Amino acid sequence: MVTPNTLPLLITSDSVSVDTQIARDISQRWSFPVIQDVPQQLYLQVVDGVLGLVDGDDKKINPVIVDFASPASMYRKNHGGGRKEAIVKAIGLKGAEQWHVIDATPGLGRDAFVLVSVGCSVTMIERSPVVAALLEDGIRRFAVEYPELANRMSLHHGNSAEVMQYWTGESVDAVYLDPMFPHRKKSALVKKEMRIFQHLLGHDPDANALLKPALALAGSRVVVKRPNSANVLADIKPTMAIESKKHRFDVYLCDNN
Ligand SMILES: C[S@@+](CC[C@H](N)C(=O)[O-])C[C@H]1O[C@@H](n2cnc3c(N)ncnc32)[C@H](O)[C@@H]1O
Repeated sequence: MVTPNTLPLLITSDSVSVDTQIARDISQRWSFPVIQDVPQQLYLQVVDGVLGLVDGDDKKINPVIVDFASPASMYRKNHGGGRKEAIVKAIGLKGAEQWHVIDATPGLGRDAFVLVSVGCSVTMIERSPVVAALLEDGIRRFAVEYPELANRMSLHHGNSAEVMQYWTGESVDAVYLDPMFPHRKKSALVKKEMRIFQHLLGHDPDANALLKPALALAGSRVVVKRPNSANVLADIKPTMAIESKKHRFDVYLCDNN
């Protein structure tokens, strides 16, 4: 059955055999039903070895993929602000700390990548099987080109509120939260990729439930990314906030060490 969190995976008769093999492995691992004809809805497809989320209703939108080694990401890594990036300041890295950060809302992994690129190891916990499959595919490809960076990424599939509550793994220095937020602007103005994402995932109405388990788990701090205009999460006041052009990073200092 296709539910909002599960999508069909398209394997056409003209898919090249490598793509077909990768697609079959993914469909089995994540229980995505296989289809042979392009549907008028969101679906998954492997093209040139890359898993993508495709909008069958709008051919103009490029597939949504996880690409840690994209020119934009690598430029940001090599020429970006590094430790001056607002997210890095918010997480609290000053020197060469090799922090273990849980990204409890990893999405397409862009923020996780920034943290990995400044030396953190990042555990991503994603509840959507579609998004988790995209992340897993992105990590697999990234590991071929940049094994030393990919080795600092790990992925769990599940609800972070529960996974954090029962966490027994490596000690956690910081938890990072960036739940979906309903965009007030008319949909045409919201980036197309974000529209597909909102269509697939909705708005994380239960986001407040993430903060308490995060505060109980993080050794040093919890950081919540919010649009500048948004209320604080769960009505809990942060210790401080760091603002960037579009976002605010609410920082909660913890002392669980
Ligand atoms: C706005 S996106 C995050 C974008 C991400 N920071 C990036 O840089 O690409 C939010 C993601 O968090 C996931 N998410 C929301 N609540 C979650 C929860 N309780 N457990 C696990 N994942 C969750 C959603 O499925 C979605 O993929």
